[in-house]
Amino acid sequence: MATIHIDGRTYEVDGGKNLLEICLSLQLDLPYFCWHPAMGSIGACRQCAVVQYRDEEDTRGRIVMGCMTPVTDGAIFSLNGDQARQFRQNIVESLMLNHPHDCPVCAEGGECHLQDMTVMVGHRDRHYRGRKNTHRNQYLGPLLNHEMNRCITCYRCTRYYNDYAGGTDLVALGSRDHVYFGRHEEGVLQSEFAGNLVEVCPTGVFTDKTLVHDYTRKWDLQSAPSVCTSCAVGCNTLPGERYGKLKRVHNRFNAEVNGYFLCDRGRFGAGFVNSPQRLLYPGLRNQAGTYDALDHHRALQSMQQTCTRGKVAGIGSPRASVEANFLLRTLVGADNFAPGFATAEQVLVTQVLRLQQNCTASIPDIATMESADTVLILGEDVTNTAPRIALALRQSVRNKAYELAANLGLASWQDAAIRNLAQDQRSPLYIASVADTRLDDVATARISLAPDDIARLGFAVGDAVAGTPGESLEQPLQQQVEAIASALQGAQRPLIVSGTGSGSGAVPAAAARLADALSARGKQAMLCLVVPEANSLGQALLCGADAPNLDHLQHRASKGELDTLIVLENDLYRRGPRAQIDSLLAAFANVLVLDGLDNQTTSRATLALPAASFAECEGTLVSLEGRAQRHYAVFQPEAERRPSWVWLLACMKEMEREEVREVHHFDDITRACAAAHHALSGITAAAPDHHFRNAGQRIPRQTHRYSGRTAMRAAVSVHEPKQPEDEESPLAYSMEGLNSAQPGALLPYVWAPGWNSNQSLHRFQAEVGGPLKGGTAGVRLLQPGPGLTSVEDRPLPFQAQPGRWLLVPRQRIFGSDELSALSPGVAELVEAAFIEVCAADARMLGVSTGDGIVVNNASATLEVRINDAVVPGCAGFSIGLAGAENLLPLQQVSLHKAQEWQRRSPQLIGSDRGGHV
Ligand code: SF4
Ligand code: SF4
Ligand code: FES
Repeated sequence: MATIHIDGRTYEVDGGKNLLEICLSLQLDLPYFCWHPAMGSIGACRQCAVVQYRDEEDTRGRIVMGCMTPVTDGAIFSLNGDQARQFRQNIVESLMLNHPHDCPVCAEGGECHLQDMTVMVGHRDRHYRGRKNTHRNQYLGPLLNHEMNRCITCYRCTRYYNDYAGGTDLVALGSRDHVYFGRHEEGVLQSEFAGNLVEVCPTGVFTDKTLVHDYTRKWDLQSAPSVCTSCAVGCNTLPGERYGKLKRVHNRFNAEVNGYFLCDRGRFGAGFVNSPQRLLYPGLRNQAGTYDALDHHRALQSMQQTCTRGKVAGIGSPRASVEANFLLRTLVGADNFAPGFATAEQVLVTQVLRLQQNCTASIPDIATMESADTVLILGEDVTNTAPRIALALRQSVRNKAYELAANLGLASWQDAAIRNLAQDQRSPLYIASVADTRLDDVATARISLAPDDIARLGFAVGDAVAGTPGESLEQPLQQQVEAIASALQGAQRPLIVSGTGSGSGAVPAAAARLADALSARGKQAMLCLVVPEANSLGQALLCGADAPNLDHLQHRASKGELDTLIVLENDLYRRGPRAQIDSLLAAFANVLVLDGLDNQTTSRATLALPAASFAECEGTLVSLEGRAQRHYAVFQPEAERRPSWVWLLACMKEMEREEVREVHHFDDITRACAAAHHALSGITAAAPDHHFRNAGQRIPRQTHRYSGRTAMRAAVSVHEPKQPEDEESPLAYSMEGLNSAQPGALLPYVWAPGWNSNQSLHRFQAEVGGPLKGGTAGVRLLQPGPGLTSVEDRPLPFQAQPGRWLLVPRQRIFGSDELSALSPGVAELVEAAFIEVCAADARMLGVSTGDGIVVNNASATLEVRINDAVVPGCAGFSIGLAGAENLLPLQQVSLHKAQEWQRRSPQLIGSDRGGHV
């Protein structure tokens, strides 16, 4: 702690921080541009100037930069003296020399840090009368707009993009007053985290192109606290709506999860909410095989009658809420309910949960992962399966730099100094994967291995750490084992990352065994296991290890034990080969599908019911770290769309089911689920219930500047209707209410007087960079376990088979999940489905990059890529992308050059004997 004096007042402050952080934490207005709470200080913009006095006798003082000045005991500062004020005014004036002053047409306008800072310093008049420099803007892809004339050369963008996120294609070009921030040539920005530039750039240079296409002023957006549904990380988001359309997604700060940043799938992948494929009305299939639209009442009646008459099964969804899944499982009975995973995936996810529940290592949140001093990734390409974790791991390798800095007494916020000091010295990061990954550039070593060999490596490192005799691997792998084991043993906070991504259960088992061994050695070991979807872990907790799978339901239906199927928010054609899903659905006389989108499964429904999206309903999701988090409706669903839980509850009420006699609200379902499932008993604490009021008031979804309530409906009626009432949450569809000092889980937007941009966040934090004043959103459901007891089967070494290839999954951030590819911007970035083989295998097959390759006797034809990081005998395939649906991870397949296959197919079709072409 330190005692400092600012403008005659005395404060007790944290001596490890710089003056700018302290001022903002004290809620003193000090303008700034280049400093960022996640990226530290470089002192580039000179905007945070203050006067520091040597002692009480010093009347002159000297100008110092707040962000570069440590707060030492007894220090005396002036923020508001004329000298400091004048200096800051001059700085803004010089930064604005070339600025086009185009706020009225700027997408940033009204939410712009530059506007706020200009007003804050009182810069009103432009004295410069010369010509302004102008620049050509670049096409940077479908997600981001570029308007370089608005740049104030603060360098935040390149610091974020290159130094923080590891990008290489956004640079500062030119010098003096001709600095240009862009690519060396036009083209799509290559970083998976480029979208954060929208929030990092303090001006309107980088703006959200998906919003600009259909623009709404930021203060006119209605928003609510939400959770990203595009992977299992559970990043907190703020979706914004206007005119019944989801307009954009911004980051919602959660100190333990996503902090200040999202990935581009999360930021831009929610556009499916506006998709023309969304269902508006229930549809009942008629005898001609087409659908008759029904209203809500008739659809419910039909649903109730079918369920009452039938022997009903349910298939849930790892992308639907705990509550909707719980209701469906209650409706059909646990024995008739499959969680909705693909068959092999169900085994993997339940195994991951068992490992997490038993392993003695802790399950880290993302912020804690950043503190790891040695990391081993086994078989998981996190940039593509759980992207925000990749960004955290990229920060973890900087711990070596912080260690060096601490030895020299350098404060951790001295960003440039620390980077200069450390140069390429990094904390160890080892990666064993089926091919190259986007973290290779910061890895100590990356080893390409087949999944079984990744598991063998993990087990061998575990044996070495535990000091137990185990299998000695072939060289040079054994050398790697020794190097990794030694690095992990030398660490204080080792982290093992693995998951379901390789398709092999042995890989996460080896990771957990190793993490257990590290804990036993007294390390603060951490184990992070990635699962595929937003609520995969919630489903595993709800259904347990013995839940029926899809095959089981089909088998029972074919025996006549079941005749009606309800599918909840799940396109089953992504869960298995087409023929398999066709037979599953054909086994049921009635197929009721609750989904938001017209997809392949919906089109097989006898009754399709339009479900609200995540942005139109409330729900609880359990992330991969076992954090239960609540998302809320941002806006009300139109036409006959209803939240799935509403359809299911109404149907059960119509059926007079005893279990829902006392269930009236969403909260009642959460409570019933918590009471029925010990593993989920904590979910009621994920957020306050609908009775919560903030100083007697609801929390407004609309900002106090929200405009046009009457005008926006003028085409319908000139009378402003009463705002809808929300009976399911403490939020209001209104600007009336109080958005301050409420629990962190209920923060719908950030705004403070004088702080209209996202930088106002510090007014909602306990201190700058710290947790929200209202506490961190979500509740952790998993704790470290007693230790692993079961002995996993250790796989044999991988042997390439002549004429056969082992399919290994290659996830893609854009397109491997079910929904983000339906967002227009993301859709442009989805690649064509591909097969990757090493150059030697390509030669053997006679193929070159771009050729077509036929997999497994025409179950798929995909484009070939040659990648020497793929192990000989393995073939990477783009899992989840259209065209690869029939391929399963770890299948042994034959490959044939497409032209050859077509020529020879009369002889080969119908057999699967494979062989080289
Ligand atoms: S583009 Fe934005 S972030 Fe980059 S230097 Fe210019 S103003 Fe700063
Ligand atoms: S990491 Fe996952 S949860 Fe986070 S923003 Fe990206 S897709 Fe969403
Ligand atoms: S914020 Fe301090 S110099 Fe830029």
